[in-house]
Amino acid sequence: MTDTGKLLDVRDLCVSYRTYEGKLKVVDGLTLEVRHGEKVGLVGETGCGKTTTMRAILGILPRPAGQVDSGEIIFKGNNVLQMKQKEIQRIRGVAITAIFQNPTAALNPVFTIGQQLYDVIRSQEWRKSGKRLSGKEVHDRAVKALKEAALHDPERLLSNYPVQLSGGMKQRVCIALAMVSDAELLIADEPGTALDVTIQDQILRLSMFMMSKRNTATLYIEHSLGVIREWMDRVYVMYAGRTVEVANSVDIFRSPRHPYTRGLLEAVPKLTGGGIARGIMGRVPEYIDPPGGCRFHPRCEYRMDICTKEKPPFFDLGDEHKVACYHSGS
Ligand SMILES: Nc1ncnc2c1ncn2[C@@H]1O[C@H](COP(=O)(O)OP(=O)(O)OP(=O)(O)O)[C@@H](O)[C@H]1O
Ligand SMILES: [Mg+2]
Repeated sequence: MTDTGKLLDVRDLCVSYRTYEGKLKVVDGLTLEVRHGEKVGLVGETGCGKTTTMRAILGILPRPAGQVDSGEIIFKGNNVLQMKQKEIQRIRGVAITAIFQNPTAALNPVFTIGQQLYDVIRSQEWRKSGKRLSGKEVHDRAVKALKEAALHDPERLLSNYPVQLSGGMKQRVCIALAMVSDAELLIADEPGTALDVTIQDQILRLSMFMMSKRNTATLYIEHSLGVIREWMDRVYVMYAGRTVEVANSVDIFRSPRHPYTRGLLEAVPKLTGGGIARGIMGRVPEYIDPPGGCRFHPRCEYRMDICTKEKPPFFDLGDEHKVACYHSGS
């Protein structure tokens, strides 16, 4: 059934990779939703499956290793996993856009920035309205997009190759590429990770500012809770392939309920001094033979018998705060 409030609705998603050692069950029953115009954060430790989730939503899992085993990815009321290839391309190119972790890998080194932007602008317009733009129209839109992404001297940039640009400039070009699409949903996968901290902050602010201006819904993937605190409406906390807690970005900091969320927050050094309080012992499990029941149970000090046997459902705590934990949910 179509729910007009939800733009993206991911239900019980399971994604695995086939390797020589066997099947890695990375994403295992992941649930998340993004509403129209909403800014949603997805946080979790390295290796918990954030990029895998993003790739599954965008339909760009590495083939043949990666595959969606089950679940639904519903975009504007339609299950993307059941669509024909042509339909999927239209949605993924026009309605959903992305910014990736590594800007160097996202740009093609053998084409100029101009060629890459013109290409996207032309094909976006063609897919959206069936209209062929003139050379001047394409060029003007490219210049406008580069200016909006706070890049100076766009005329010169258009004739540059990616190798001639700094990391920060390349990521700005990627933001410009994402902007020319007029998409309803942007998925950003830690767009600042490959950059130094000051540039990271600029990139975050720029992408958030542009999304807010256009009212584009955003799924912002980050491993640090602090970075997205300022910008997000809601935050999903992910652990070992599952979302374990969701709340608005005030409540997740004020009253985190899942032991993993609490550990993540405690692992952030305090500005007031005192360093890291406790953090979480251990690490994300191996996906070849992940723990049964709650995947966090081997690291959890509140573990009960049921946690080792049954996967916890989401318990509703009110005010859109939900937690998948037998200890803190009931
Ligand atoms: N192509 C692949 N083949 C096999 N395993 C993979 C592949 N890509 C990712 N994985 C495994 O899937 C797991 C999740 O990886 P993923 O990149 O989704 O994590 P992440 O949450 O994005 O981490 P990070 O914060 O470091 O970016 C990891 O154990 C990783 O080794
Ligand atoms: Mg990643």
